[in-house]
Amino acid sequence: MNDTLYNNRTVEGFLLSSLVWGVFGIVFGLLISVQLWEPAFNFGPFLSYGRLRTLHISILAYGLGLGVIFGLFYFMLVRLTKRGLVFPRLARFHLWLWNIGVVVAGASLFLGFTQSLEYAEFEWPVDIVVVIIWVIFAVNIFASVFLREEKQMYVSLWYMLASVLAVAVLYLVNNIAIPAGLTKSYHIFSGINSANMEWWYGHNIVGFLLTTPILAMFYYFLPVSTKLPIYSHRLSIVAFWALVFTYLWTGAHHLVYTPLPDWIQTLGIVFSLILIAPSWGSVINGFFTIESDWSKLQENYLTKFFLAAITFYGLQTIQGPGQSVRVISGLVHYTDWVIGHVHMGTMGWVTMTATACMYYVFPKIYNTEIFSVKLANSHFWLVFIGQLMYSFTMWIAGIQQSVMLKQLNSDGTLANTFMDTLVAIYPFWILRTVAGLIFTVGMVIFILNIVLTIVKGRSLSQSRA
Ligand code: HEM
Ligand code: HEM
Repeated sequence: MNDTLYNNRTVEGFLLSSLVWGVFGIVFGLLISVQLWEPAFNFGPFLSYGRLRTLHISILAYGLGLGVIFGLFYFMLVRLTKRGLVFPRLARFHLWLWNIGVVVAGASLFLGFTQSLEYAEFEWPVDIVVVIIWVIFAVNIFASVFLREEKQMYVSLWYMLASVLAVAVLYLVNNIAIPAGLTKSYHIFSGINSANMEWWYGHNIVGFLLTTPILAMFYYFLPVSTKLPIYSHRLSIVAFWALVFTYLWTGAHHLVYTPLPDWIQTLGIVFSLILIAPSWGSVINGFFTIESDWSKLQENYLTKFFLAAITFYGLQTIQGPGQSVRVISGLVHYTDWVIGHVHMGTMGWVTMTATACMYYVFPKIYNTEIFSVKLANSHFWLVFIGQLMYSFTMWIAGIQQSVMLKQLNSDGTLANTFMDTLVAIYPFWILRTVAGLIFTVGMVIFILNIVLTIVKGRSLSQSRA
């Protein structure tokens, strides 16, 4: 393929780097899951739960997640705009700077430098690097869309633009801090305002990194890989505008039953419930697209990845609004239930979609076929089973703990101590590690399949030359 037009080396660079960061993130995930039921696995301050939990989340979001987003956005962009990137060299620089950024950010978290704001852990010097990286990315995306050769704005482009813009605004606002040296700063907002701002950011950064970019990929890669046209373009556009409008009001659902004014909590809850509609607009579009020819499920191994992913997304976007309602939040908040929710989204919806897209992209870059469909099928089932087992064990553990914490003796005192609840959920934590291991084996098979595809593609192109 024409590398000057398609920037294949840059796309490949992002995707391969993201896999390397993904391995670190998943290994840290496994380790912290063990540390919760076997504290002896905390090794000194650097490999303790506190540091590694932060690293697990940040490396998966900003290493694996962002690498996939950068690589696949560049891949889609040149095809949807029918022109090469406006600044291909800048994209190359972007690749290097982002990798350096992940190393620096990871090292800073290892050393324990953190703002203590979830998903916004980095201290201000790292934030500056993040902003530079994002500006470089945004310049290429916006320039290529404005100077596009193709008139039609396909829905994936809208999702891409929204993701780039929203992340920029969220990151800038929530990271305003007063530096107190190179490695310490104070959030400019204080008290409940700090919490409100943090969760406006926290919810939406999850949305605009783990939902809208993934929808951009889903709308592009589902039709191109299955050759099934999207069921309704109009529905996809209506769902897009409704989703981006609704999303930004929902953050307060993370602060139900806190000192945050009641009306703000209610606003967050109401908008969370409204969010079901635009989310399901895409779910229905996905289902009907696949439903137009069920035989694709047998013929094309990627179809089941997309079907499972959109199903997980559908479940996630019913469960999420449910969790925000006061009575349910009172039951599940501060328990492992939420961890089950998180991993259905990340391991199910995000990872399934991203890996399916990569299965399509690598053979395209090398003008070959995937190394082994059988391996891809095993990968699918392992990730699928690992994911379900992970979430179900956490949902049960969450309810068990919540019910135990609320149980009262006849004299009104608490029937169980916090420690009692931990002892009760230990078996579920052990099962979660087993689930994580199953998921990890699936991901190792995926990476192996990709590497073997690249080896095959390279040897084919040498023999063609
Ligand atoms: C309609 C869409 C959704 C709504 C209304 C929603 C709602 C919620 C609520 C209420 C919580 C907080 C639970 C608590 O702490 O009590 C939560 C947590 C979370 N959700 Fe969702 N969710 C949605 C979709 C998603 C999707 C698609 C993903 C990921 C791909 C996701 C990832 C997360 C994460 C990572 C957290 C944990 C945040 C934290 O405490 O660190 N959610 N969600
Ligand atoms: C082998 C697979 C995995 C294992 C064993 C694992 C394990 C864990 C553990 C033990 C926690 C901390 C739970 C707690 O606070 O009680 C956690 C949190 C988290 N993990 Fe994973 N994880 C895995 C895969 C992933 C993947 C693939 C992603 C994203 C792409 C991810 C994203 C997150 C996020 C966002 C949180 C924070 C949740 C919150 O604060 O509510 N994890 N994970």
